Amino acid sequence: MTRLAILGGTGVDALDGLTVTAVERVETPFGAVSADLETGQFCGLEVVFLQRHGKPRSLPPHRINYRANLWALKQRGITHVVALNAVGGIHASLRPGMLVLPDQIIDYTWGRSHTFDEGGEAPPMHIDFTEPYSPELRQALMLASAGEGVVDGAVMAVTQGPRLETAAEVRRLRRDGCDVVGMTGMPEAALAREAGLAYASLCMVVNTAAGLGDAPITLDSIRQHLRASSAASARVIGELIRG
Ligand code: HPA
Repeated sequence: MTRLAILGGTGVDALDGLTVTAVERVETPFGAVSADLETGQFCGLEVVFLQRHGKPRSLPPHRINYRANLWALKQRGITHVVALNAVGGIHASLRPGMLVLPDQIIDYTWGRSHTFDEGGEAPPMHIDFTEPYSPELRQALMLASAGEGVVDGAVMAVTQGPRLETAAEVRRLRRDGCDVVGMTGMPEAALAREAGLAYASLCMVVNTAAGLGDAPITLDSIRQHLRASSAASARVIGELIRG
């Protein structure tokens, strides 16, 4: 049976249309979860919502306890995770306001607790990460997003943040083959794989990456795009559930 969780990103403090029926603080061996797990009904299915930046927001990307978050979801019987990520667009075709389903990742983060493998006698976590997202969940999300024009496939760069990139860094990401850039996609995706969770990311392009646009990147314009895109993301997840 599918048990779905939604991981809320920047500006997505709630899933439009989720009626919360239970709120739970989960303790984990890895420390505190970003926020309480919110369980509720969404389009007729029981789903869990977790805001990875805390609620109210208190955790920048490098301070998020990704291990605690994924462990708590697994522990609560979650099988599938749709992660919402705000990103900057690098590929010229990926403009603010668009939704993208990435299919690959390049990880530029450092110093984050990135694995459940603590050594010792447990088997090593040499997970196959060739396809970092669940192909089945991506496919289901693609079908669900027909009405919203979601772009199928992109390489997501994950940078350390919280600052945005320099123009030269973005040029390097583009040379590396990255199409979008965000700050929270890793180690989340890898930990989900280690935990045996089917995981996919639905990215909201909220700005043109540094040095590629003709105006400075402002929080105000990012917020404007987030408002529209988070409503569109909720519609996609609704269609995913309706199947
Ligand atoms: N870079 C990194 N992370 C981001 C961006 C960006 O331009 N926009 C939203 N998250």
